Amino acid sequence: MNITLLPGDGIGPEITAVTKDLLQAVGSRHGLGLTLEEAPMGGAAIAACGEPLPEETLRRCRKADAVLLAAIGDPRYDQLPRQQRPESGLLGLRAGLKLFANLRPVKVIPSLLGASSLKPEVVSGVDLLVVRELTGGIYFGQPKGRIGCGTEERAFNTMTYGAMEVDRIAAMAFTLASRRRNRLCSVDKANVLDVSQLWRERVERMAPAYPGVTVEHLYVDNAAMQLIRQPRRFDVLLTGNLFGDILSDEAAMLSGSIGVLPSASLGEGGPGLFEPVHGSAPDIAGQDRANPLAMALSAAMMLRLGLGQEAAATALETAVDQVLQAGFRTPDMMAKGCVAVGCRAMGEHLLAALEGSGHDVDAQRDVNRV
Ligand code: IPM
Ligand code: MG
Repeated sequence: MNITLLPGDGIGPEITAVTKDLLQAVGSRHGLGLTLEEAPMGGAAIAACGEPLPEETLRRCRKADAVLLAAIGDPRYDQLPRQQRPESGLLGLRAGLKLFANLRPVKVIPSLLGASSLKPEVVSGVDLLVVRELTGGIYFGQPKGRIGCGTEERAFNTMTYGAMEVDRIAAMAFTLASRRRNRLCSVDKANVLDVSQLWRERVERMAPAYPGVTVEHLYVDNAAMQLIRQPRRFDVLLTGNLFGDILSDEAAMLSGSIGVLPSASLGEGGPGLFEPVHGSAPDIAGQDRANPLAMALSAAMMLRLGLGQEAAATALETAVDQVLQAGFRTPDMMAKGCVAVGCRAMGEHLLAALEGSGHDVDAQRDVNRV
């Protein structure tokens, strides 16, 4: 199985190094025969090749069995025209691999309950999945651009969805809901936007095909409110591209640290793209302070959804649970009574947990306790 790794920018290379070791360990333990090959992307690719998504990187991603991306974004390139910025490379990769479905699970890990800015009784037990449409909507709609100049200048984007685009992401969300708790909440702004009226009609039309799934529709403003008021009421949230971008960041904060959230982007048959929800955190890059857990969990999603390796995926997730239960925390998750570790040390504890030496994990913990 060939995996293309895209370390990208900021903390990307540090968390990639940890994840690479984990994949090699879990791969040899489960006899997966993994080949890991790195390619430049984002600011790193701008520096090396002058563009955020070199043709060669896209080609290697297309022929891989799965793509694992760390993070992209580098303030040094913020002044470049939008098309040449690292973010455009990511949008190009999503479009180039036709990844129309973005899955962002938010499961509150009991040992991190105290890390959320919301009350523990509100976030405890939260287990939801944002299913975000990823290759359409206002991110890609035409026409878009800027015309005129000075006070006459105008800028515009188009929020548009075709029935087929709504249908394929809705079918994915219904299917996923039917494998979870059978509740689907579709998010739109149908009280104002035509595009949302079509969205809602298509979702309604599909509902009878999934009789076991209960569907509700929420306006996006109300959904944003309910997410922090009563987050446990959600199972699967189905959204368009922009609403999903916003709501998935909000949902991420329920878990206390965006540093533990993985995501998967899937298309129709080709390789999926797996990446942490967090960004490149350039402010802490190179300081061994990054949290590698979201990328480790993204690698687990890759093993499960991209490569069909359930046992290996579970092994990696169990290792993450164990290091958290043992009290190890990178600075972003640090809490009283826990043990502060850097990115590399967290990686070593994960490896130890993977090798099944839970004992060593506990011993180390007492040594490092602060
Ligand atoms: C995300 C990010 C991206 C997006 C940016 C980096 C282009 O915010 O994956 O949520 O807006 O989709
Ligand atoms: Mg975002």
